[in-house]
Amino acid sequence: MANFFPRWTNWVPIKLVICGILSVCGLTGATWYYVTPKYTRVRYEPIQPVPFPHDLHVSQLGMDCRYCHSFVEMAAHSNVPNTQTCMNCHTQVQKDNPKLEPVRASWKTGEPIEWVQIHRTPDYVFYNHSAHVNRGISCFSCHGPVNKMPVVYHAKPHSMAWCLECHRHPENFLRPNDQVFNLDWKPDDVRPAEFVAKYGQPQSAREDLSKKKKLTQTEIGQTLKERWHINPPTNCQGCHR
Ligand code: HEC
Ligand code: HEC
Ligand code: HEC
Ligand code: HEC
Ligand code: HEC
Repeated sequence: MANFFPRWTNWVPIKLVICGILSVCGLTGATWYYVTPKYTRVRYEPIQPVPFPHDLHVSQLGMDCRYCHSFVEMAAHSNVPNTQTCMNCHTQVQKDNPKLEPVRASWKTGEPIEWVQIHRTPDYVFYNHSAHVNRGISCFSCHGPVNKMPVVYHAKPHSMAWCLECHRHPENFLRPNDQVFNLDWKPDDVRPAEFVAKYGQPQSAREDLSKKKKLTQTEIGQTLKERWHINPPTNCQGCHR
């Protein structure tokens, strides 16, 4: 009698087992790769040549981000300050603090301090600081509470999904333009009457927002989104040019 099943079918069970093992391994690997902090870079905090305390300079001394990151409003790239910027004060203040030795050495030799870059998007992604900072998106939304950090760490994932989460719903993040550099800003700080007089209110609003005691982030964000015609790209070419 002829074989009902062709000969190759003998191998089917063993192939199924191998496929099963491979896909389990693949899945574990992929989950590991995508979910662990190492891939998303959250909490990445390299050792810097000088442990520069943002909390002290920003929250205690009251310095503005733009004193040091002077191009962040004007350019795609946000610069890190040069040695001269530190020496504006540190020729006088903390002259003998050993922590500042690399700054003094750089000042003498003219060799820049080699800060380790923490946030980095791949070359195939188009990213522009000024396009965000001038459209009501705070440093806080993308870098976390830098003003409270003794040393800067990577606070947000900066993955594609993360960019898109905001691009789809910018109203969850938009704030008045003059609060972009104030990392402590909260929706509760907004005075409804003043806000509505300046920016109006969303078309969908069913009540007079200026009469409310407090505004929510969504009410503030939706108002600014309509007022400024905010429309972040969600198509591939928007970020991969
Ligand atoms: C007195 C100067 C100074 C001020 C003011 C300052 N920074 Fe910085 N910032 C630095 C220096 C120096 C570095 C590089 C060393 C480091 O990463 O700690 C840096 C690094 C950073 C980084 C990480 C950059 C990277 O490598 O990815 C972020 C984000 C940042 N600053 C945000 C801010 C924000 C937000 C403010 C305002 C709230 C601010 N900085 C105010 C000097 C300053
Ligand atoms: C506007 C003036 C000013 C500028 C500009 C400035 N600093 Fe300072 N910095 C200070 C003051 C004031 C203190 C001391 C605060 C204190 O005594 O508590 C200080 C303290 C420090 C300390 C010592 C912290 C400690 O824990 O001992 C370091 C490190 C430091 N600064 C690094 C820098 C670096 C790096 C830059 C340039 C990126 C810079 N500073 C720019 C004013 C400044
Ligand atoms: C919409 C998100 C977003 C906002 C808002 C934002 N940043 Fe960034 N920042 C990034 C990304 C993404 C990178 C990495 C860019 C790259 O690879 O060149 C970065 C990098 C940086 C760097 C490192 C640059 C370098 O080459 O070392 C500094 C400093 C910085 N940002 C400061 C700021 C400050 C200060 C503000 C607020 C005034 C701010 N950023 C607002 C997303 C943001
Ligand atoms: C917290 C909100 C937020 C996050 C996070 C964010 N964006 Fe945006 N993005 C915006 C807003 C708001 C605009 C301005 C849209 C407008 O002007 O209509 C914008 C605009 C842009 C534009 C168009 C600007 C231009 O010059 O053409 C690009 C490109 C862009 N974002 C890339 C990115 C990338 C890449 C990331 C992630 C690394 C990112 N964005 C993360 C809110 C965000
Ligand atoms: C808002 C900005 C933005 C938009 C829109 C966007 N991307 Fe991305 N994409 C990114 C960023 C940022 C990364 C880098 C992620 C990282 O470094 O973890 C990335 C990474 C990628 C990668 C590399 C794979 C990976 O996971 O590392 C591919 C492929 C990709 N994008 C395809 C697309 C396609 C296809 C679209 C359209 C459906 C698209 N992107 C739309 C920002 C964007």
